[in-house]
Amino acid sequence: MLDIRIEKTTEPKQKPAKGEKLGFGHVFTDHMFVMNYTEGKGWHDARIVPFQNISLSPAAMVYHYGQEMFEGMKAYKGVDGKTYLFRPDMNAKRTNETNKRLCIPQIPEEDFVQAVEAAVKMDEDWIPTDEGTSLYIRPFIIATDEFLGVAPSKTYLFIIILSPSGAYYASGLAPVGIWIEDEFVRAVKGGMGFAKTGGNYAASLIAQVKAHDGGYSQVLWLDGVERKYIEEVGAMNIFFKIKGKVVTPALNGSILPGVTRNSVIAVCKHWGYEVEERRISVDELVAAAQNGDLEEVWGTGTAAVVSPVGKLRYKDDVMTIGGGEIGELTQKLYDEITGIQWGKKDDPFGWRVEV
Ligand code: COI
Repeated sequence: MLDIRIEKTTEPKQKPAKGEKLGFGHVFTDHMFVMNYTEGKGWHDARIVPFQNISLSPAAMVYHYGQEMFEGMKAYKGVDGKTYLFRPDMNAKRTNETNKRLCIPQIPEEDFVQAVEAAVKMDEDWIPTDEGTSLYIRPFIIATDEFLGVAPSKTYLFIIILSPSGAYYASGLAPVGIWIEDEFVRAVKGGMGFAKTGGNYAASLIAQVKAHDGGYSQVLWLDGVERKYIEEVGAMNIFFKIKGKVVTPALNGSILPGVTRNSVIAVCKHWGYEVEERRISVDELVAAAQNGDLEEVWGTGTAAVVSPVGKLRYKDDVMTIGGGEIGELTQKLYDEITGIQWGKKDDPFGWRVEV
């Protein structure tokens, strides 16, 4: 159990007005959670302080070798006026999986959840209430040793910042176009693909720019060895509905184990759909699109929620899915997941956690 010191801001910022377009990740609340780690002492000095810049030595290890991790979560203002988190235990577990890979010290899961809850409680008034909005939560850990040798740092900062946000894509729930990348790769088995660390996203930028230049919103990655099997999209996991079955790439070490991915699989099974977590080759996908078997495509992610995909491009093939409209199951899943998150629907899985 953390003993969290609280220092309230004396200069509260103007909160976004109701109805104001928030976009994603531009606005930040009044406070942030901070905790230090020092080798031999462990995690210490848990505190909530006014949102502020952090000052580090230019030799801090995070700047040079990228030893860092982050998470993505959301807090929701329920229709009953209560504040909710969605499966925070999953983010706590994934944090430690990432930390293990990055040689960052473990954080007790209950401390992680307590820190998130305390940060959210502090800035609860910042949770937006417009349709489709939430308070995006960004916990992250950075290596802070002043040292240029390549080794795990002995000191770290764990910080949580909060951002009232709308839809991740500017298009909202309108289907996005996805570029299947056949030149660059994101990750390989044995690498860091399953971990939530900045390096994976840095590696994605070059293809992201290429996709944008081609008029597409996001990149769909193929496996790093054969460039043949579907992996994930830049900011989401990917799902296909092929001849009535729900198909998604199996977690193979190079794919992020998404919390929304896991939730969508559980909901689909609960509704009686056959769900296959397996390898899917891009050739199988193109063939399914060409012979009309590919019924729906959607992405899942904390930021992206459930995002319909209306178009896929692979080399010279451009495949339009469902006439470019949102599919029936995609819409149903969006309604179900957000319904549970906002407390509009029953929560048979016990995923909603009141703060
Ligand atoms: C999230 O969905 O929370 C993520 O961390 C993805 C990020 C690239 C926006």
